Amino acid sequence: MQTLYKNIRIVDDTQDFMGCVLVENGIVTKVAELIDEPAYEIIPAYGLYNSNFIVRDFTGENVVLMPAFTDLHAHFRDPGFTYKEDLESGCATAIKGGYTAVNLMPNTNPVYNSVEQAKEIENKAKELFGITVNQTISMTKDLEGINFSHLKNLKKDEILFVTDDGKGVQDDTVMKQIFEICNEKNITVMSHAEDAKYSATDMRKAENEMTARDIRLNKESRMQNAKSNTANLIFKSNLSSHLHFCHVSTKEAIEMIAQAQKEGFNVTCEVTPHHIFATDEEGNHYRVNPPLRKQEDIDALINAMQNEVVFAIATDHAPHTEEDKEQGAPGMIGLELAFPLCYTKLVRSGFLTLSQLVKMMSTNPSAMMKLNKGKIVKGMNAEFVIAELEQEYIIDVFTMASKSKNTPFDGISVFGKIVETIF
Ligand code: DOR
Ligand code: ZN
Repeated sequence: MQTLYKNIRIVDDTQDFMGCVLVENGIVTKVAELIDEPAYEIIPAYGLYNSNFIVRDFTGENVVLMPAFTDLHAHFRDPGFTYKEDLESGCATAIKGGYTAVNLMPNTNPVYNSVEQAKEIENKAKELFGITVNQTISMTKDLEGINFSHLKNLKKDEILFVTDDGKGVQDDTVMKQIFEICNEKNITVMSHAEDAKYSATDMRKAENEMTARDIRLNKESRMQNAKSNTANLIFKSNLSSHLHFCHVSTKEAIEMIAQAQKEGFNVTCEVTPHHIFATDEEGNHYRVNPPLRKQEDIDALINAMQNEVVFAIATDHAPHTEEDKEQGAPGMIGLELAFPLCYTKLVRSGFLTLSQLVKMMSTNPSAMMKLNKGKIVKGMNAEFVIAELEQEYIIDVFTMASKSKNTPFDGISVFGKIVETIF
């Protein structure tokens, strides 16, 4: 079956033009300003068009076709806390937000400590809901920060990421050894940078200290790996795996990451929509970890987006019940809010082009998850999202598919409505 999308604004990381996209059996086969349609075949008895060739003419209205988004950081709470979110509601809210791929954190109950456990939920997501779920596994068993023996049995390239998101690994020796193992096995470490010594008193220091430590240990571990491998006697920054920082929120942390990148280290990071959309000022103390910061932090994060120090925008979708929130659980839902918040704050206000936003919400994270999506070019999967950019609307949490309703953005006015996710 073929589908032709015509007269629509096509935007990915390198293109932004009015044109057409032809899709055949789920794969993009042609992208051009004009694509000829075959003569319509009339099926005599019914007078219908040939259903093997569908034409969708958008007549140049203010709609945009982008590659569907990929989220590097979400919590679906399945198993263990499925009353907050489960695979079904998580996939539904992802799809409504324009996402066809999500990378899930392992802080469930039980914790995802093994590839077998991860494969189970990944396969279920594909079979039942048709989207890509990558389930990360823990860096330390049960996220306790001590035992990492389960990593030693992994085969090279068997998994993409490990993380102790929600906590981070506090012990330097443990962390350094984890880096060494991950370098050998080509696994990316996703760091939740929080030094627990300072969590109760100074959350800025907690993030900054741990960011500095992880960069330092990662560098040392690479040198260690280089030394023990005679083929790599000379240290190379791209020795193998890399370090990725989750939800970077302070100007100091982003500066350290920029510096490490300048030195040639393979360090990347993600920023959440909420950390660039809101500050902790004006009485906004909605609890999230890391916390909402200051305007000067937002300025630094936006600057880092403009300079490509930030690799991806990730939601940190963290569903919680009202009772959990009252008791101080950190986090907010984000999958259905990411695009409108980012479009309104970053693109509509002129900080970024839509192509730059698409690069961080789709192209880059898709590449990091090794997916054949994230660009609208021949050969890629036809995973798209259609949005009406100039449609202003009020966020209404009760229209969302997530089981949880925890967001401080309910009731605010935004632009950029997702109208369809295609996959
Ligand atoms: O706010 C947060 N919530 N930050 C995290 O790192 C964990 C997450 C959660 O699991 O609720
Ligand atoms: Zn985290």
